[in-house]
Amino acid sequence: MKLAEFDAWMTLEVARVERALEAWVPVDAPAGLGQAMRYGVLDGGKRVRPLLVLAASQAVHGLPGAALRAACAVELIHAYSLIHDDMPCMDNDVLRRGKPAVHVQFGEAQAMLAGDAIQALAFDVLTPNGGDGEPGSDSQAVPPVLQARLCGLLARAAGHSGMAGGQAIDLASIGLPLGENALRDMHHRKTGALLQASVLMGAACGAASPAQWAALADYGDAIGLAFQVVDDILDVTHSSVTLGKTAGKDIDNHKPTYVTVLGLDAARRHANDLRDKAQAALARSELPDAARLSLLADKVVERDN
Ligand code: IPE
Ligand code: IPE
Ligand code: MG
Ligand code: MG
Ligand code: MG
Repeated sequence: MKLAEFDAWMTLEVARVERALEAWVPVDAPAGLGQAMRYGVLDGGKRVRPLLVLAASQAVHGLPGAALRAACAVELIHAYSLIHDDMPCMDNDVLRRGKPAVHVQFGEAQAMLAGDAIQALAFDVLTPNGGDGEPGSDSQAVPPVLQARLCGLLARAAGHSGMAGGQAIDLASIGLPLGENALRDMHHRKTGALLQASVLMGAACGAASPAQWAALADYGDAIGLAFQVVDDILDVTHSSVTLGKTAGKDIDNHKPTYVTVLGLDAARRHANDLRDKAQAALARSELPDAARLSLLADKVVERDN
């Protein structure tokens, strides 16, 4: 696939995701909650996780309506995790996606509730049979067995053994000289789990053989870790303006990262090795339509925000 074709695909798919999120994140939640939710979800973010869902689904000829819902559900969980991650009790950051963080704009209590409600909305979006009357609802899009499978994949990636568990380790590790194994485990959980789930939720929307599923799981595992390694690198190499969030925050917060544990050059090499690992797993999948996943792996490592 040519790069221009890939770029055009990304633009189209991101626009579809934006339109769906725009329709599904409510305007009318009580007492200003809707405004805080929309502020935290819409108008910003690279939408890498939705793109992974859609690329994986297209690689296995998945149900398009189910894949769009899965793409939005993962992004909702991610958006909620960022709202909470920025709160004073966690990373205490004031800038997110180039705007004041949700807790700065709406206050801490509303930020907490917006995160809570966005998390619930993710599972609402995945279960259209139970979501009568929501905009764009089409209960045929996701067969009930697939609804359950997608909910399970997302719940396990978001919960205590995945993102939330990783965030707990992150906060418990402030100021500690973590070893590489402990650091890898933390990053796999707090960030890798949701990226891997994005790939597998996309794959679940179609028909992947057990061998293809295992290969896609390995691909997701490698790019998931690579994503956080690169996030650690960008924190020290790029400016707040480019990142849309406060640069240098990990050092300020005394967080152990791939940069503090391995050093910048070794961290960069590690990200490249993980990209190679992801590409090898994709090759093993023998999926004919895996070009978009391959280019997304490059993007995860080569990005500058
Ligand atoms: C930032 O994620 C938080 C991490 C898990 C590293 P992204 O870099 O995907 O943030 P957005 O969605 O583009 O704002
Ligand atoms: C975030 O890790 C992981 C999440 C689950 C939100 P970071 O704390 O490094 O993310 P940024 O750098 O604030 O986006
Ligand atoms: Mg954090
Ligand atoms: Mg943070
Ligand atoms: Mg970071």
